[in-house]
Amino acid sequence: MRATAPRGTRDVLPEEAARWQRLEAATRRVFHTFGYGEIRTPMFEHTELFQRGIGETTDIVQKEMYTFMDRGDRSLTLRPEGTAPVVRAYVEHKLYAGVQPVKLYYIGPMFRYERPQAGRYRQFHQIGAEALGSSDPALDAEMIAMPITLYEEMGLRDVRVLLNSIGCPVCRPRYREQLRAHLAPRLDRLCATCQTRYERNPLRLLDCKVPQCRELTEDVPSILDFLCDECGQHFGAVRTHLDRMGLTYRLEKRLVRGFDYYTKTVFELISPHLGAQDAVGGGGRYDGLVAEMGGPDTPAVGFAVGVERLLLALEAEGQNTEDGVARPRVYVAAISPDDRSQVVELTYRLRRAGVYAEMDYAGRSLRAQMRAAGQRGAAHVAIVGGEEAQRGMVRLRDMNTGAEREVALARVVEVLADGR
Ligand code: HAM
Repeated sequence: MRATAPRGTRDVLPEEAARWQRLEAATRRVFHTFGYGEIRTPMFEHTELFQRGIGETTDIVQKEMYTFMDRGDRSLTLRPEGTAPVVRAYVEHKLYAGVQPVKLYYIGPMFRYERPQAGRYRQFHQIGAEALGSSDPALDAEMIAMPITLYEEMGLRDVRVLLNSIGCPVCRPRYREQLRAHLAPRLDRLCATCQTRYERNPLRLLDCKVPQCRELTEDVPSILDFLCDECGQHFGAVRTHLDRMGLTYRLEKRLVRGFDYYTKTVFELISPHLGAQDAVGGGGRYDGLVAEMGGPDTPAVGFAVGVERLLLALEAEGQNTEDGVARPRVYVAAISPDDRSQVVELTYRLRRAGVYAEMDYAGRSLRAQMRAAGQRGAAHVAIVGGEEAQRGMVRLRDMNTGAEREVALARVVEVLADGR
């Protein structure tokens, strides 16, 4: 029996969980103002969904999926991302038949068999949103504005937006040929993986992390110079909207993203405080995916933010580090062991009334209980027992001032509940 969590996974203990809760609450608040409703899809899906949706030649499908056969001999995969499942749900529930666009968000774990390192896990969490059923460039801009608003709400100061367009099935093949022609003389100096990418999916080669490949692709032509009229106009409108909203970005010609479903706009959100795994979010438009999944031709756009990375970035900026251990409003202490069942009863009554109450579970002396109350930062101690109890009274000590007073046992809940 190994008492350690699997490699690439981690536990979130209560102190840190308080920060997660704060982020989740901010997400729900912000996304509500943008008009997004929550969707919760299963943690696993048919493997084929991701093979088709994300693309057979992508790293995720080739090397990173947690795929297994269930007892009924079906191939299932723990979801590596949220977009394909949301599209599947959109088609399955015929959401295309209602008012468009359909705007959805999700918060939950994703699974990728990647090599763990700082900011990279095998189970990680995403906050994501998808808008399906509109090709309006205003939605592309909204998908950048929304995570930025969330970061701001959380107090993250330093985020950079990288922006690109990867065109559509009309203009991308032209660029692909240009890229091949440009790289042909250097082909034998590219890494082995890039040599196969050259044949199968040359755009992906721009994403390679091998330093030599990065150098060899430094001066490739920009896809922006090859966009068709429609893609060019769309991209221009996205930029106009971003400018108007005061959102600054940098054009990054090598930004292609690791999924085959993207068309037109792609973007990444980078924190400069994070080292190698510096993307705190990313997304883009995927106008062909709904049809690919068997639905009607439907344009769509979305993004996802990495929860762990966002929290790491906040920490690196010295934000959101307050510990989340709540302090009891009252610690209920027993004068003698005989008074303990009264303590149990009073504690329960307080909790039912919504008052955070703590008690001793070790039968300790009154002095030790007072010390424990202090350590936990309790605002009050209710001392139960002794001759006060016989008179139906409880001693209530204010831990800040040290002042003590007697309160009728029957009124303790009332007094603590409304803060008197
Ligand atoms: P992605 O760029 O693969 O996009 O992931 C989004 C974010 O999830 C990343 O920017 C990063 O913060 C976080 N992330 C990814 N992998 C890991 C990992 N192994 N450990 C920790 N954090 C990680 C998507 O998943 C797309 N589905 C986004 C999207 C939605 N595009 C359109 N709609």
